[in-house]
Amino acid sequence: MDTVDETTSFFDTAPLLKDGSGGGPRRVVCVTSGGTTVPLEQRCVRYIDNFSSGHRGATSTEYTPTSFKYFLKSGYSVIFLYRRGTCQPYCRSLPEDPLLECFRVTDDDSCIQVQVHESHSEAVKTAISKHHAVGAISLSLVQSCVSYICLKVSFHDRLFQEILRLIATSMKMLGPSGMFYLAAAVSDFYVPWESMAVHKIQSASGPLDMRLAQVPKMLSVLRKVWAPTAFCVSFKLETDKEILLEKADAALKRYKMNAVVANELSSRKEVVILVTNSGKVSVYRDNKDSDVESPLIKLLVDKHSAHMNTTKLPF
Ligand code: PMT
Repeated sequence: MDTVDETTSFFDTAPLLKDGSGGGPRRVVCVTSGGTTVPLEQRCVRYIDNFSSGHRGATSTEYTPTSFKYFLKSGYSVIFLYRRGTCQPYCRSLPEDPLLECFRVTDDDSCIQVQVHESHSEAVKTAISKHHAVGAISLSLVQSCVSYICLKVSFHDRLFQEILRLIATSMKMLGPSGMFYLAAAVSDFYVPWESMAVHKIQSASGPLDMRLAQVPKMLSVLRKVWAPTAFCVSFKLETDKEILLEKADAALKRYKMNAVVANELSSRKEVVILVTNSGKVSVYRDNKDSDVESPLIKLLVDKHSAHMNTTKLPF
C-alpha cells in the first residue's frame, strides 16, 4: 500500500518551475551518499560499519565553474541525503588532517610554527559563491526555488529508508523529471530491535554469536510505489569482477532501474560501467586529476532527458 504523507508535498509547485536553462520542467535529483551503519545494541556502543566515504555522491552533486558536468552544474536541484561524517559537496579539497595542515616546519628544523592555511576554505567558498542558490537549508524552505538541500542523518539503515520514502513520495509529483541517484552503500543485514541486546554486549560471555536479518531491498518499492515514473539509478559494488556485471544486469531487470552503475571496489574512482537496457558502456575518468563522475553524470543527464521525452506525467 502506498503510504504517501498527506501533508503538502515539498514539490507541489515544482512542475511549474523551470530549470536553469529556461526550458522544460524542473529537474530534481535525490542523491544518497555514504554508508549505513547497523547497531548491535539498543543502547548502542557498537555497530557494523561500511567503507563508503561518500566521495561519489558528493562529487556528483557539485557545481564547478569549470566545464565538469555535475548535477548542480547541469541545472538540477539536488536533495543530498548523506551520512554524518562522510564527504559533502565542495569539501573534498579540504585537508584530511586539518590540525596537521595548520603547522609548518621552520627552516632551522627545530620548531614548528602555527600557520593557518586558508587556501582550502577559500577554495570551498569560491566554489560555492559561483552558484547563487547553494547552501544547506532547513526543510521549511524546501518549497521555495532552491537548488540544494542537505539532509544529514546518522545513517542507521531503518532511518535512512524512512527518509528516502519521505523524499520519494514528495517527489512523486515531479514524475519523470525526478531522478534518484542511489550511491549510498546500504547495509543488507540488520539486527531486529526485538532480538537486539539492550545493554552493551559483554565480552566475558565468550565469542559473539549473532544472527542478522536481511534488510528488504528498497529498490523494488521505490520503483513500484514511491516513484514509479522517476529516472532511477542504482549502484552495484563488488570486489569480484567476475560477478559484477551479472549482478548489475540482474538489478536492472529485477528492480526495473533505468540504469545501474557497476563498480569494483579497487578501481571505483577510475572507471565505472553504466548498464542500461541499451547495453553497457565503460566510463573512464579523463586523466588522473579528473573525476569519473564528470563523464558519468553527463551520460546520465542525457539518458534522463530521453526518459523525460518518452514518459508521460502521472497527472
Ligand atoms: O562512497 P565512495 O567511497 O565514493 O564509494 C562509492 C560506492 C562504491 C559506495 C558507490 O559507487 C556504490 O557502489 N554504492 C552502492 C554500494 C552498495 O551498497 O551496493 P549493494 O550491492 O549493497 O546495493 C545495490 C543497490 O541497492 C544500491 O543502489 C543500494 O542503494 C540499494 N540497496 C542496498 C541495500 C538495501 N537493503 N536496499 C537497497 O535498495
